[in-house]
Amino acid sequence: MTDVLPPQAGSGPRPLDHVVPEPDGYRYPFRIPFGWFQIAWSEEVKPGDVLPRFYFGRHLVLWRDHDGQIHVNDAFCPHLGGHFGYGGKVVDGCKLQCPFHGWEFDAQGTNTNIPYSTRTNSKASVRSYPVREIGDHIVSVWFHPDGAQPLYELDIPAEMTDPSYSAWTDKHFGVNAAAQELAENAVDGPHFRYVHNTEIVPEIESYEADGFTAHMRSVQRFPTPRGVVDGRIDVDNQGPGFGVTRFSGIVDTFLLGAAIPVDANRCEVRFSFKTKSLGDEKATSSVGQAFVHEVCKQFEEDRPVWENKAHLRRPALADTDPPFMKFRKWYAQFYAEPAHAEHDVWAPAAPDLAGGQPVFVPNEATASRKHRTTE
Ligand code: FES
Ligand SMILES: [Fe+2]
Repeated sequence: MTDVLPPQAGSGPRPLDHVVPEPDGYRYPFRIPFGWFQIAWSEEVKPGDVLPRFYFGRHLVLWRDHDGQIHVNDAFCPHLGGHFGYGGKVVDGCKLQCPFHGWEFDAQGTNTNIPYSTRTNSKASVRSYPVREIGDHIVSVWFHPDGAQPLYELDIPAEMTDPSYSAWTDKHFGVNAAAQELAENAVDGPHFRYVHNTEIVPEIESYEADGFTAHMRSVQRFPTPRGVVDGRIDVDNQGPGFGVTRFSGIVDTFLLGAAIPVDANRCEVRFSFKTKSLGDEKATSSVGQAFVHEVCKQFEEDRPVWENKAHLRRPALADTDPPFMKFRKWYAQFYAEPAHAEHDVWAPAAPDLAGGQPVFVPNEATASRKHRTTE
């Protein structure tokens, strides 16, 4: 017999929590980190929009009120579980209305109106998440698995509003791997030669972890048709979800890279690029776009590694390897629970063998690959 529970009792608001079935199996010793994560670009959420989203292993609703403020709440209405993101509306300027029976909630998740009652339900409450809209371009949400309030704030890079930089170019990727695995790539100089087929690999000058921030400084020599140009790749991370990469040498390019966990096994990445003006708008745009193309091409070259690799808790390293363990120690602070120690090797799920054994389909030959094969 199914238990029928009485309606919620007790005093004071109690945000409804929800549990989503866990992924088929955890692929990593870590789960979902806390921090600020980019959930959208500003232009994706117009006043009055109410959008369903799934991040952090949770059903969410992302909405912008008529005053222009963006809000993120848990998706389910505490009345009878309606999902706000499928037909919900912004009413009265800044209230979220459930599509099921019209109950209304403010951005903090407090019930403000039940259309067929003269009273509200003070216990009916929806979890809300802190949101910051940065530089009119990035919408960041604070997530902590225990519901803790923000433990740091994001510093806004000057380039975001510097008029000498171009308009934004945005790129969006979904990846079947945890955000930490992608972030580890930033300190990994040696993989460039094998995954990206670059002749010259970046040379790390320093990697410093400082509280919630980490800073990587490297020199990179870029081959160009007019010879090799000395350049730099410097990366500044603020928590696990917000990293600024500054490329210099050929053209100053600013890349805001933002990873957001979909659940413990998957993430999405948003890249927002700006290029410093070379004086000539057309030249800036074509050099800038070539750079964006190269970074995105490299991302796709990394993908099969990320999606198929095992996570080794105790990797066998060379004495000259970059500071992988220093990076992992820094990143580990963003997990609310200690790493799971039941395995040393965490492998991807078994492949779907309906069509036979798995097949590796390489990316199309790239310019650098072609170059390599003619050597
Ligand atoms: S479920 Fe939301 S108003 Fe009834
Ligand atoms: Fe890479």
